[in-house]
Amino acid sequence: MKIAIINGPNLNLLGTREPDVYGSQTFEQYFQQLKLKFPEVEFSYYQSNIEGELIDEIQRRGFDSDGIVLNPAGYTHTSVAIGDAIAAIKAPLIEVHISNVHAREDFRKLSHVSAKARGTICGLGLKGYELAVEWFMQ
Ligand code: DQA
Repeated sequence: MKIAIINGPNLNLLGTREPDVYGSQTFEQYFQQLKLKFPEVEFSYYQSNIEGELIDEIQRRGFDSDGIVLNPAGYTHTSVAIGDAIAAIKAPLIEVHISNVHAREDFRKLSHVSAKARGTICGLGLKGYELAVEWFMQ
């Protein structure tokens, strides 16, 4: 089972970025735990702050993975092109948000990704990533 994890802008700062909203763990620390929890999964991990690079990675992984877990971060609310990329690939994709975007500013309620994703998990912290992996593995 090949699962690609893709994180969008500013998620490279997890751990120090608004810890009251996003927690105090870095994604690298969490990713180590995730790999230990699912030793049978072949994970890839990619993070970029650049929209086109995220689209390139979605296209690359979209035809050779069994599933993609994507946190598009701020691009969720602005990127028609990321939504289009998800519609163009073969692999099922789960959208994950660490925070509960529906309990925050109004602009976070709009997602260009949700309608193209297989499902969305939000508000459950980093745990959302492993719940997405579990769904792919069932
Ligand atoms: C986020 C929520 C987005 O609104 C925000 O722009 C992010 C992170 C989350 O994981 O909660 O950068 O995707």
